[in-house]
Amino acid sequence: MSANIAEMEKRREAARMGGGQRRIDAQHAKGKLTARERLDILLDEGSFEEIDAYVEHNCVDFGMPEQTVPGDGVVTGSGTINGRLVYVFSQDFTVFGGAVSERHAMKICKIMDTALKVGAPVIGLNDSGGARIQEGVASLGGYAEIFQRNVLASGVVPQLSLIMGPCAGGAVYSPAMTDFIFMVKDSSYMFVTGPDVVKTVTNEIVTQEELGGAVTHSTKTSVADLACENDIEALLMAREFFDYLPLTNRSGVPERPTADAWDRLEPSLDTIIPASANQPYDMHEVIAKTLDEGEFFEIQPKHAANIICGFGRIEGKTVGVVANQPMVLAGVLDINSSKKAARFVRFCDAFEIPIVTFVDVPGFLPGTAQELGGIIKHGAKLLFAYAEATVPKITVITRKAYGGAYDVMASKHLRGDLNYAWPTAEIAVMGAKGAVEIIFRGLSTEEQAVKTKEYEDRFANPFVAASKGFVDEVIYPHSTRKRIALGLRKLRNKSLENPWKKHDNIPL
Ligand code: COA
Repeated sequence: MSANIAEMEKRREAARMGGGQRRIDAQHAKGKLTARERLDILLDEGSFEEIDAYVEHNCVDFGMPEQTVPGDGVVTGSGTINGRLVYVFSQDFTVFGGAVSERHAMKICKIMDTALKVGAPVIGLNDSGGARIQEGVASLGGYAEIFQRNVLASGVVPQLSLIMGPCAGGAVYSPAMTDFIFMVKDSSYMFVTGPDVVKTVTNEIVTQEELGGAVTHSTKTSVADLACENDIEALLMAREFFDYLPLTNRSGVPERPTADAWDRLEPSLDTIIPASANQPYDMHEVIAKTLDEGEFFEIQPKHAANIICGFGRIEGKTVGVVANQPMVLAGVLDINSSKKAARFVRFCDAFEIPIVTFVDVPGFLPGTAQELGGIIKHGAKLLFAYAEATVPKITVITRKAYGGAYDVMASKHLRGDLNYAWPTAEIAVMGAKGAVEIIFRGLSTEEQAVKTKEYEDRFANPFVAASKGFVDEVIYPHSTRKRIALGLRKLRNKSLENPWKKHDNIPL
């Protein structure tokens, strides 16, 4: 008996050592943690239960039978984050560079299948040289099995990817189909083809970091939602982020006790809107003053910052916040901001997270770059996302709501449940100056000034919209949190279904 236990312990130890001390040291020398060290930080202490630690590859080519490592380059299992269940896989770069073999892929598929069955999110820690070259198509098949599961799990359980090392070639497409991606600066990268291939094919000279580093993907491409300084920060951010997420699309949002009074008033919001319509103010301040304890987890903060998306809580329960940011491009809607917010709105809707929208939008961004870039199609994404969403939707127009962008931003017409406006709201087809220049083209400057004033008096307020029922109530800015909290309470049992369809056809 003791010999059997000793054998088990020996095998466990072999699995724990992965590719051996030399490679563990090399991993550390790159500023990276090992697969197991990462799980220790991500999960509650002592909560990790590993499975498949003895799985080995089945490759018979290129001398591989002599090179087996128990676990085959990925650590899989389940654990908890602040007491809530999560399934995890963590690729071990010390074993064949974390490359994906058929068996490695099967391990990942097993935890994905289980997560889907029991109803828990999946977090993948990616650090891999891609397809296990010695295995050829068996490895590619393994990837496809993972891809298929990513798609089936999408909208059922949240999926989060942390990119903590290489992620190249076909390997990028599993994280790409998960809900959120956090990357680590300098030590991680994602690209379909690396700098060497790029140079051969297009003659461009580019570094790994420029082509697919955390900064590139969190600013330019929007592939990543967050760029973290190092492994530890990424893992701690993932823990914090996880607390906002429901376990499944049917579990309801998590609740966390809060000492912040639901009816807290914020007098400073009564004066936040500047006297001049062209002057910006920071929408982050409005968001922070509305949410519990001012806590807000923003996603893609450095990409399309003219729109703000992220999670917070009201009365302890998660809400998704979408807000135009007057500080960046006057809060205008453009291709990138539409795409960013559309995906966020769809995530919230899929997982029954109520959406709070703050509106201060001067319209869509004009210009050839936008038109030729397909703003029609991309802008339609956000419109479509809001219109199809059946979760509770509360909208607060703080200042401008102009033109088509008024319609898009969770307007009453798109089944907004509670549409509030501050007294400073201006709901119109466009700003007064632009409007007068079009409808009174031939007038002198003085006459135009008179007409501009007339137009402002008529439309630069929330009351025309309110008189039509397009705004449910004009509220004191200081009471915004209280009104949203009350609204969310009333909408808790909201029930709204779209007509049956196989799926919709959102403009992609
Ligand atoms: N298949 C099998 N083994 C792989 C591998 C792969 N795809 N990628 C890396 N490895 C192995 C290496 O042979 C090496 O093994 P060793 O420790 O026994 O020497 C180990 O993983 C570490 O790789 P190394 O190249 O030393 O690490 P690095 O940090 O210098 O470079 C990569 C990392 C990922 C850039 C580099 O290994 C690479 O280019 N790999 C191939 C990527 C690829 O083309 N994948 C297939 C298509 S998706």
